[in-house]
Amino acid sequence: MKIAHLGHSTIYMELADQTRLIIDPFIDGQLNENWQPANLKVDYILLTHGHSDHVANVFDLIRHQQPTIIAVAEIANFFAKLGQKVHGMNIGGGFDFPFGRVTMTHALHTSSLEYDGAVHYLGNPAGFIIEADNKTFYHAGDTAEFMEMDLLGEDFDIDFACLPIGDNYTMGPKQAARCAKRIKAKKVLPIHYNTFPVIEQNPQNFIDLLTAAEGLVLPLGELYEI
Ligand code: NI
Ligand code: MN
Repeated sequence: MKIAHLGHSTIYMELADQTRLIIDPFIDGQLNENWQPANLKVDYILLTHGHSDHVANVFDLIRHQQPTIIAVAEIANFFAKLGQKVHGMNIGGGFDFPFGRVTMTHALHTSSLEYDGAVHYLGNPAGFIIEADNKTFYHAGDTAEFMEMDLLGEDFDIDFACLPIGDNYTMGPKQAARCAKRIKAKKVLPIHYNTFPVIEQNPQNFIDLLTAAEGLVLPLGELYEI
């Protein structure tokens, strides 16, 4: 299982069987051509919720390919109506895809998308646990801290977790560090910070607060083997 952080909450994942996934595509425009949505090839797009800083590049990615969009039922229905291949799920459910198992987890946030001049409310926000290549990966989506994260720590052996630390729209560094402990993650990557002025953070402050997990900041666009 290889991943690359492509800015904000965007994670690209490449599995041993060559399956390519992208979570919450909102790709940093400074990254090289290969990472830009007009060129990037993916088999699946996973969406944690409908906010534009998580789905904006879906519209570019689906222009040149037909990936399957995995999301909560309301978001899946929204993209199905646009003619896309979708797999709708809901919170607490898991499904065995050809590449591995995806479990949709709770997230404490909101979810809507402005599209074609109207605001669409798109069900509840979510997170994802992906089990593939004998690794367990967790993307929390946009969320506040919630105590049920303890159960994720009990049910899953999380090798790598992406947690938002930006504050204002999600939890901040202190709560995110406590979440790392709740989920018993081995490694954690801070996401959802420094993209906008209101979510400015020094990721080192988060890393310094970690007790058991190893915190890391990945250079954007570099593949990392989990
Ligand atoms: Ni959001
Ligand atoms: Mn967001």
